[in-house]
Amino acid sequence: MTEVSKMRRKLVLGNWKMHGSIGANGQLFEAIRQHASQNDVPVEVGVCVPAPYLSQAKNALSGAAVAWGAQDVSAYASGAYTGEVSAAMLAEFGARYVIVGHSERRAYHRETSELIGAKARQAISAGLVPVICVGETMQERDSGIAEQTVRDQLSDVLAFVGAESPDRIVIAYEPVWAIGTGRSASSADAQTIHAALRACLREHGTNMEQIRILYGGSIKPNNALGLLSCADIDGGLIGGASLSSDDFISIIDSACRALGSETRVAEVANAGIKS
Ligand code: 13P
Repeated sequence: MTEVSKMRRKLVLGNWKMHGSIGANGQLFEAIRQHASQNDVPVEVGVCVPAPYLSQAKNALSGAAVAWGAQDVSAYASGAYTGEVSAAMLAEFGARYVIVGHSERRAYHRETSELIGAKARQAISAGLVPVICVGETMQERDSGIAEQTVRDQLSDVLAFVGAESPDRIVIAYEPVWAIGTGRSASSADAQTIHAALRACLREHGTNMEQIRILYGGSIKPNNALGLLSCADIDGGLIGGASLSSDDFISIIDSACRALGSETRVAEVANAGIKS
């Protein structure tokens, strides 16, 4: 393991999206809670649930080594913004993470880098950790501009956030074509993009390279170990598979097994990259 990756604790974060019911959630929370309490899990685990279930998450997970969070937050601190939830409210509630700039919100809600940056700033000032998502479309990948696209997305958001200490932000690389399709990026391709994002972070401030970068997009039990073993992949943002306790726990276990094998996988991935 490299010196750098030793300092970045792996994070496995579920994104339930708009799924769930009180009954189904109860079983899922219980399984995750039990797994966390029965095993001394060396990676960090969390779930980002729909807002109405935050209270259920808080009750079900309190005292367990499992964080909970939200999937969106207002770009404003408070005021007449009907339907919005502020970062301070989420923080007061005990949430730790909030996803911002997910490609589904960029696409369906026309979220801009400025808005995403404002949401991330609100989150940080309230003490939440924003999970800032970036990712290229299939068209951008096919045009050979995947790396440039995600670097630009990251820089554009960071321009509104400024330099931050590594524990206050998480980045998630989620190729749009991999989300919900069952078609994940290969470990080598994902590692290449993560290394580019890390280089981009390094340009933005001292210590910024220590910010964790998660991979998301069709992570499943059968590909998790390969992806999570890459040197610059510091965990996963899990969609569909986080709705199955067996699959989510299997991915957590893969993240644990991946510890210590990052350098080897990076070498394999880099060997496949033509200079
Ligand atoms: P899937 O794991 O379902 O592809 O979703 C990934 C995602 O969008 C997580 O934020």
